[in-house]
Amino acid sequence: MIRLDSVDLIFNSGLPNEMTALKNINLSVEKNELTLLRGASGSGKSSIFSLIAGLVKPSRGDVIIDGKSIAKIPDSFAALMRRDKLGVIFQKFNLIHDLSVYDNITLPLIPSAKTTSEIRLSAEKILTDLTLTNKINTAVRYLSGGEQQRVAIARALINQPKIILADEPTANLDQALIESFLHIIHDLKAKGITILLASHDPRFSELEWVDQVIDIAHGEIQ
Ligand SMILES: Nc1ncnc2c1ncn2[C@@H]1O[C@H](COP(=O)(O)OP(=O)(O)OP(=O)(O)O)[C@@H](O)[C@H]1O
Ligand SMILES: [Mg+2]
Repeated sequence: MIRLDSVDLIFNSGLPNEMTALKNINLSVEKNELTLLRGASGSGKSSIFSLIAGLVKPSRGDVIIDGKSIAKIPDSFAALMRRDKLGVIFQKFNLIHDLSVYDNITLPLIPSAKTTSEIRLSAEKILTDLTLTNKINTAVRYLSGGEQQRVAIARALINQPKIILADEPTANLDQALIESFLHIIHDLKAKGITILLASHDPRFSELEWVDQVIDIAHGEIQ
């Protein structure tokens, strides 16, 4: 479902601030697998997510999503691939602060064939799962960190993507919310979704339904 073949990622190539973020990454995630990506801050976890989401291009090697190479496709094609296949929970949330919770999570569905009432139903369902219903019309700028994190989770899940990329999705959640996030992930796995999760949280390493653990240090898989 996801493959990185001999991938290097170099930022600012040829400039004095050149930075090799990833070196010779080979990684394979099969359909319906839950893969945990672990590594210290700065090791390259988010860089791997950016490559898989088509937000950055590899300097060398290939990135293959659902059988198709995305290493050289134009940004507009990468955006379509993200919309059709991926749900991404960004580490920095990437929410639109002036818009309400409802608008933030339903915006990705506007180009879809869904009707407004179908969209509303999907939004209400996911907000109930994440105990956010009472904030549905609140602008994101007024939400706490944990609430914003849950909006980011809701936005990633609402489109029922085949693949979920979750970058430190529990960093701002308390114990009870982490438990409900784990239930959500478990349900998604039961539905056949492929999940790649980056986290420092030792709770994830202990889960018996994690299929693969990848340790990364200084841009290299260990
Ligand atoms: N756009 C960029 N330009 C230059 N350097 C970058 C860029 N993005 C990331 N880096 C560098 O690449 C390295 C890997 O960063 P990355 O964000 O992938 O780490 P991470 O493992 O996700 O860390 P954290 O746990 O803190 O989120 C870091 O040294 C970072 O400073
Ligand atoms: Mg990161």
